[in-house]
Amino acid sequence: MEAAGDSAGARGGLLCVTGGSGFIGSWLVRLLLDRGYTVHATVKNLQDEGETKHLQTLDGADTRLRLFQMDLLDPSSSMRPAIEGARGVFHLASPLTLHTQDPEKELLEPALKGTLSVLRAAKDCGVHRVVLMSSKSAMLPNPAWPADKVMVEDDCWADLELLKERQLWYHVSKTLAEKAAWEFAEKEGLQLVVLNAGTTLGPFFTPSVNTSLNILLQLLRGQELELDAVYTGWVDVRDVAQSAIVLYENPSAKGRHLCLASMERLVDFADKIADMYPEFPVHRIKEDKQGWLMRDKEPSKKLIDLGVRFVPFDVTIREIVDCFRSEGLI
Ligand SMILES: NC(=O)c1ccc[n+]([C@@H]2O[C@H](COP(=O)([O-])OP(=O)(O)OC[C@H]3O[C@@H](n4cnc5c(N)ncnc54)[C@H](OP(=O)(O)O)[C@@H]3O)[C@@H](O)[C@H]2O)c1
Repeated sequence: MEAAGDSAGARGGLLCVTGGSGFIGSWLVRLLLDRGYTVHATVKNLQDEGETKHLQTLDGADTRLRLFQMDLLDPSSSMRPAIEGARGVFHLASPLTLHTQDPEKELLEPALKGTLSVLRAAKDCGVHRVVLMSSKSAMLPNPAWPADKVMVEDDCWADLELLKERQLWYHVSKTLAEKAAWEFAEKEGLQLVVLNAGTTLGPFFTPSVNTSLNILLQLLRGQELELDAVYTGWVDVRDVAQSAIVLYENPSAKGRHLCLASMERLVDFADKIADMYPEFPVHRIKEDKQGWLMRDKEPSKKLIDLGVRFVPFDVTIREIVDCFRSEGLI
């Protein structure tokens, strides 16, 4: 992680982070406070210490962090108090789960309606710029983008029909939400910039393990991963948070930004973890079912051009494993 995007006039002032309690959100709040910003962060339940305490103990939180309760399924009125007065909004709040009983209620509705409500509130409150946390899941998989084709970020969209057919509802939720956000921004004249993060890993200070960290936890515990349609590569959480800040602070940043340290296949990931940790019962993947996915050591060229430098794999993994160990999870 290297600081970048320091366009002088943009720094300082009030920013809003939705989903501030989550794995990525908590890192973003932390880095923004470190950079001198004042932050309004939203959490789903203010009474739940599991969502608030790790934020309230951050450096600078006592004077420059205020938490707001916000539910994505409430109309935009519940977002306004957090957004009012903010120059920028980082919209991260969105359910992240790969297993669901009721995809419409649990994933699609909050992602789509929630995004539109946040954007509506941002527009009504005169917010200058919105950074939307989308996902590489809104870009891939798409059979029209075969492995030998260089990814063109801005016009590479996941194939919605394919996602629905494979019941990849989280992917559907991110794709629909991002598409709706672009439509809204264009129609309403809102400045929007999007970060399409890959599977996000890295040290955590949230009290629970989120879905992406759980992938590594499962692997270290010897479980088999069934993510052939899902995994396309990893990125360190600090680089995701830093990239979001870079996109906010650089007026020249436009469009969509794939945020991956490395584009790779599931088999590559499992092999690297097995090599690093022979003491854990990691399953090596025997059959590579991701022939559709190109490998690329520098897939995030737009972010690299903006000055982002990615944390190396072994550093990220060792730091998470230290967290897992200190939490008694492995
Ligand atoms: N982790 C990844 O690999 C990855 C990759 C690409 C993109 N992303 C995106 O990054 C964002 C943050 O993900 P994360 O990894 O930090 O996941 P996370 O730890 O599960 O955080 C999700 C956040 O969304 C909030 N949220 C969920 N449903 C909500 C609702 N109905 N109303 C209000 N808030 C709600 C959660 O609030 P509470 O904690 O208060 O419940 C939490 O703050 C999401 O948009 C996700 O799609 C993640």
